[in-house]
Amino acid sequence: MYHLPARYTKEQILAVRTAHRKAHTWQDRAALGTVRLLRWGMDLVSGYHTRPTNTNTISKSHLMTEEKWITRFVFLESVAGVPGMVAGMLRHLKSIRRMRRDNGWIETLLEEAYNERMHLLTFLKLAEPGPTMRFMVLGAQWVFFSGFSLAYLISPQICHRFVGYLEEEAVITYSKAILDLENGYLPGWEGLQAPDMAIKYWQMPEGQRCMHSLLLYVRADEAKHRDVNHALGNLDQNTDPNPFAAGVRVQVRSVASSAGRLQKLKTQHLLNIAGRFMVLHI
Ligand SMILES: [Fe+2]
Ligand SMILES: [Fe+2]
Repeated sequence: MYHLPARYTKEQILAVRTAHRKAHTWQDRAALGTVRLLRWGMDLVSGYHTRPTNTNTISKSHLMTEEKWITRFVFLESVAGVPGMVAGMLRHLKSIRRMRRDNGWIETLLEEAYNERMHLLTFLKLAEPGPTMRFMVLGAQWVFFSGFSLAYLISPQICHRFVGYLEEEAVITYSKAILDLENGYLPGWEGLQAPDMAIKYWQMPEGQRCMHSLLLYVRADEAKHRDVNHALGNLDQNTDPNPFAAGVRVQVRSVASSAGRLQKLKTQHLLNIAGRFMVLHI
């Protein structure tokens, strides 16, 4: 059931931009506030500083090196693999419990978890985490898995919005690392070949198999997670089909061609969400 990620073209991975969805409701603000709080805590604990324009204003020990970036990626990706699996599992159990179909959400959510785990495994090929990091990952997983599971049972809509905002931050983080690499601050990565498993997984073409390309591919995935989760957060969690599931796209089209005006508007709205996504990131 797992598919390879989309085969991005060079133009597509270069076209990815940071983006922010404005918080409109109290649910949006709760999700955004939680993400900002987590980011602040994580930056504080890990001593993360982005490179200022004037490097004299920051101590050398605070500058991000190749090793610090990888440590940050490993920790973030170990956390990022949790939401899709939890959401997919809970929707799977709900479908069984209520003896009802899931409208195509589970596959997309599990694919997201699989994709995040591939990010983690790729970065682990570049650095071996020490005992402290392993302990932090263990603790973070326990806390985040418990907290997110409980939150998803209470409000899946807020949880998808939360993941959407979390992924906005992921796109920002990878964009900053890419910029550091382009500006020559990460000489150890210049000319470094991406691990073989990454080349196979993303089907990276000849000439686009370096560390810079790898970061562009990972960032494109994060942008995809951002858009998918924000879109899922807009939908009715119980009745709307997942517009990103291949089968549902076909189904929705056929419903749209035969249903009444109200249903047509709703299905068209779903197709628009999926269509916008496909244009930007697939
Ligand atoms: Fe990721
Ligand atoms: Fe992600």
